[in-house]
Amino acid sequence: TSSAAQQLTDANMKALATFLVLLNYFTRCHGWICTIAPEHLAATQIDAGNGMVVMTDKNSNAFFLSDSSWSKLGSVTLKHVSVGHAGVWGVDRDNTVYKFAAGDFFPTRGLSLIQVDAGEGQVVGVTSQNSIHCLNGSSASSIEEEGVLKWNTITGALMYISCGPLGCWGVNSAQNIYFGKVSPDTCGISSWSQVDGAAVKVEVGSDGRVFVVNQSGNVFERAGISKALPQGTAWSHISFCVIIKHVTYDLGRLWLLTDAGVILNCI
Ligand SMILES: *[C@@H]1O[C@H](CO)[C@@H](O)[C@H](O)[C@H]1NC(C)=O
Ligand SMILES: *[C@@H]1O[C@H](CO)[C@@H](O)[C@H](O)[C@H]1NC(C)=O
Repeated sequence: TSSAAQQLTDANMKALATFLVLLNYFTRCHGWICTIAPEHLAATQIDAGNGMVVMTDKNSNAFFLSDSSWSKLGSVTLKHVSVGHAGVWGVDRDNTVYKFAAGDFFPTRGLSLIQVDAGEGQVVGVTSQNSIHCLNGSSASSIEEEGVLKWNTITGALMYISCGPLGCWGVNSAQNIYFGKVSPDTCGISSWSQVDGAAVKVEVGSDGRVFVVNQSGNVFERAGISKALPQGTAWSHISFCVIIKHVTYDLGRLWLLTDAGVILNCI
């Protein structure tokens, strides 16, 4: 009918107007070129790794990006999901850890974690008491549906952790930032060293680039990272003019989740 067609046009116009306003707004503000990723209102967390982009929404459903839309990932409700070299892992509201295998998430036994990171060969995570744990590469990749996962405890206290090829980065409850070298094979750590700055989230890309979000929703990239100096030299502020809730990076693309729930894909 013509009124249905009119409604459709109105919706398209509104979407287009929003798109143009945001696009203009963002491109004026920073060096990255951002476009709005396929929209999923109520996105709460996003993670990119190994070419995949996954997210959870406020109903704790997990999704992955395919073509230009978000598809449901598995049947389990999760509050946090991570994808990387160690596969796809998640945690639910009760802090049960899940591994994705054969098309769905299955619960693992061993430890309750509030956040996991599957970025490198090993899987790392933190508990609600902020203790730090690591599952070595061979345990992370083996299929042990019946067994109890043998997590190693890493010294220190963090509320968020992410690992890349040159080491792991974390933030503690006082918003201090730490860097440490963790062996994916053994989960052995050299030691944590505090890095300057303050942040609430840190994400390391598979190529080693490191991004943090501070409590005010500002994004910073660590500059000067090299094999010889894996902790880098300084934070460089990326001004996005909007409040960023979550940041993740993979294969040259930066994915941002704004406070308003809009997902941006920047190159
Ligand atoms: C990985 O963890 C498993 C289980 O704890 C252990 O048997 C194995 O020796 C570990 N591998 C290495 C290389 O440390
Ligand atoms: C976050 O970064 C901005 C920009 O550098 C700064 O003005 C603000 O004070 C920082 N907030 C926190 C909580 O560190």
